[in-house]
Amino acid sequence: MKRLTLIQYTLLLSGGLAASSLQAADDMQLQRGEYLARAGDCVACHTVPGGEDFAGGLAMASPIGEIYSTNITPDPETGIGHYTLEDFSRALREGKARNGDHLYPAMPYPSYAKITDEDMAALYTYFMEGVAPVVQENQNADIPWPLNMRWPLAFWKGLFLEDGIYQPDSKQSEQWNRGAYLVEGLGHCGACHTPRGIAFQEQALDNSDDAFLSGAELEGWWASDLRGDWQTGVGSLSIPELVSLLKSGSGGRWSTSGSMSDVITHSTAHLHDRDLNAIAVYLKSLGTSHTSVSTTVKEPVTNGAELYNEYCSTCHRDNGAGYPGVTPALASNPTVVARSPNSVINVILQGVESPATPADSIRYQMPAYAWQLNDTQVAALVNYLRTRWGNQASSIQEKDVKALRH
Ligand code: HEC
Ligand code: HEC
Ligand code: HEC
Repeated sequence: MKRLTLIQYTLLLSGGLAASSLQAADDMQLQRGEYLARAGDCVACHTVPGGEDFAGGLAMASPIGEIYSTNITPDPETGIGHYTLEDFSRALREGKARNGDHLYPAMPYPSYAKITDEDMAALYTYFMEGVAPVVQENQNADIPWPLNMRWPLAFWKGLFLEDGIYQPDSKQSEQWNRGAYLVEGLGHCGACHTPRGIAFQEQALDNSDDAFLSGAELEGWWASDLRGDWQTGVGSLSIPELVSLLKSGSGGRWSTSGSMSDVITHSTAHLHDRDLNAIAVYLKSLGTSHTSVSTTVKEPVTNGAELYNEYCSTCHRDNGAGYPGVTPALASNPTVVARSPNSVINVILQGVESPATPADSIRYQMPAYAWQLNDTQVAALVNYLRTRWGNQASSIQEKDVKALRH
């Protein structure tokens, strides 16, 4: 029988150890990549409802037509299996596909440009090794010629893509910098919360301009002002309240709705508390935007129509018709025109949530306005609702509101 010498033994052993620690390092890299993919919410756009994760095909509206997200599973034929780390990084940071095509900025590469090299490598490992390959052909965008030519996107990028990985601000804490990195980079919060300019570009990609995260129209919703304004922004929320909002969708007085609920479900709910705290610390450091309402309007607005436009019309629409199946019409609505105004006042003060039923398990919520609107404002709003769009009901007074406010 052949005996192993001590040397051979040692060599074998250390070889085995090296292999297993390599394996452990690889597992950690995979987990880290998975976490980062959550933080970047890749699944949100690259998955159709009910479809395979990351297989693409989700139609996304753009000003010139519909664009479809692509298959980013590692299938070599229809997905990104042939992508090298460099190809992958170029797609995420520079918006360039492997074949050289410029990508539409529906893919948030202006934000992903800030991802660090280490995080990029971990994401790549996850997409190559942690995601199951799915065979699914990509769909071409429904954009008519000549707008479908991709080369003009090169000019767009020249104008609006700021290259460069996130650079920590040495005057700020490590926690603040982590928050800034997640919000401006992977979290691409600005893709929804920053107003867009004439060429669909976000007006700012970081806090150097106070348009950043100052709120934006988004497919019939208003993606809130995330800056410091007390009334229109998150100024009145504490850090724990913000953390709890991002973790569970409710934070004390607030709850979320619309696409933010999806962001929470797929992304922020999975982040570690220390990352959520970092995000909250960063958001709370942002000053008010010069465009925010309470800095331009000194006196509280007491005109019913203006209040309606500001607080209600995004959900119930300008014409009071609501969105069938989601928000109720306020025109010819018995709650609005009832002889007693108590219900409509309560709804405004306390908000409401639709019941979950077997027929419709989605619970639509309306926020409470008790802390945002004073008695005079609520009375003006109710009187507006009760006399618009053919509604005819008696007017109410401040004291009616006061009586119901606790
Ligand atoms: C807000 C939506 C959105 C999010 C979030 C998003 N993508 Fe995309 N992505 C797209 C769209 C749309 C395209 C296709 C753009 C086009 O065809 O010009 C795309 C294209 C790509 C491509 C190019 C693929 C190809 O087929 O050449 C890669 C790679 C990619 N995304 C990876 C990612 C990763 C990784 C994440 C998460 C870190 C992510 N995407 C998050 C919308 C998104
Ligand atoms: C896909 C679009 C989208 C993205 C990405 C997005 N949000 Fe939102 N967010 C919205 C919309 C729409 C609303 C308004 C709905 C609401 O008030 O509940 C909102 C509301 C919020 C609110 C206020 C909640 C409230 O009750 O009014 C906070 C805080 C918030 N988002 C934080 C973030 C942060 C932090 C990020 C990045 C990690 C982010 N959002 C990314 C769409 C988005
Ligand atoms: C984020 C979207 C949203 C906003 C903003 C909003 N609502 Fe609502 N509202 C809803 C939803 C959803 C319901 C229905 C909840 C349910 O099904 O119980 C509702 C219900 C109501 C009702 C009750 C209707 C009924 O049939 O009982 C009234 C009245 C109302 N809203 C008025 C207002 C007013 C006034 C404002 C502005 C101060 C406002 N809403 C802002 C979403 C919203």
